[in-house]
Amino acid sequence: MSGIHRIGVLTAGGDCPGLNAVIRAVAKTALSRFNLEVWGIEDGFLGLIQNRMHPLTNESVSNILTLGGTILGTNNRVEPRRYPVKVNGGTEIRDVTDRCLEHIAHNHIDALVVIGGDGTMTGTSHFVQLGVNCVGVPKTIDNDLYGTDVTFGFATAVSIATEALDRVHTTAASHHRVMIVEVMGRNAGWIALHSGMASGTDVILIPEIPFSIEKVCESVVNRSKRGKRFSIICVSEGARQTDGEQVVDRLDPTSPDPIRLGGIGQKIASDIEAATGIETRTMKLGHMQRGGTPVAADRVLATEFGGTAVELVMAGTHNRLVVMKGRTVTHIPLEEAAGKQRLIPVNHPLVRAARNVGTCFGE
Ligand code: F6P
Repeated sequence: MSGIHRIGVLTAGGDCPGLNAVIRAVAKTALSRFNLEVWGIEDGFLGLIQNRMHPLTNESVSNILTLGGTILGTNNRVEPRRYPVKVNGGTEIRDVTDRCLEHIAHNHIDALVVIGGDGTMTGTSHFVQLGVNCVGVPKTIDNDLYGTDVTFGFATAVSIATEALDRVHTTAASHHRVMIVEVMGRNAGWIALHSGMASGTDVILIPEIPFSIEKVCESVVNRSKRGKRFSIICVSEGARQTDGEQVVDRLDPTSPDPIRLGGIGQKIASDIEAATGIETRTMKLGHMQRGGTPVAADRVLATEFGGTAVELVMAGTHNRLVVMKGRTVTHIPLEEAAGKQRLIPVNHPLVRAARNVGTCFGE
């Protein structure tokens, strides 16, 4: 006997295509295969703090496989250890972990499946230390979670970014312009590298390889001299010049990860136009990359991850993160991934493959 009768599932961090596919896989595996009860916790850790959770049924998870976002709601601000509480007309930051533990016990939740990124896994490993049975499922469009070769949501983001790069090609070629597309990814350039390669982008700028604006301009001008009167640049929001800083769009002091990157595309557009005289336009793809229906690969991965998470719970293999290594789904200790990022090694085979076809990284 596993001693597990009811599991809770929550989604935390930014939304990501495939979250609902995981929720569906968790619920269906738990309900049908293991005859468990499944409770959906609302809005990530906030639902645990505020005791907002409800039973999930086969009906409530029916028809959500292709749906973007998360039916449970999510939150990328709340961390139980630093939760703003109203006190005497002011706000104090308090550790409300006890409240979460109380609600888990009160609702007879025997194990938690937590779907999130590195920040979420940091919060989850704290619960693990306090004796809560947890299994993590890695989520992020950025593909930067340590310990797994791939996260669901990434393939969808890459396909959206690729389509955008393909489409700006028309305007670039017709108007003889430089067109820049800024993509997400935080400190990792995976989305830029994959979508840039998939669309044959001339210049790819990623955080892992700081760039020189002179080299970027040189590449654009050289193309012009060769008769290619346009260039397309894919820049990751976290890219920076060799002697510069990342461009910050906004600071959110209420978030455990307060920095929101963005704006590098606009900056390099002005620099290129000023240096070369070539008309340069930029487009920031933003949350478009996280929206809408997941591509087939993400639905498949999410379904595999969700089912595996419940299997681990039932095998008593708690405190693990479900991961993909090569083509195999396996698991690692949850705390191993907490708070770490998986960046692109500068000698990654994909970087070499892009260089082989003449892609400029601005070095
Ligand atoms: O981690 C996913 C992500 O979309 C990043 O690529 C981006 O930097 C960040 O989240 C944006 O966060 P928010 O939705 O809070 O602006």
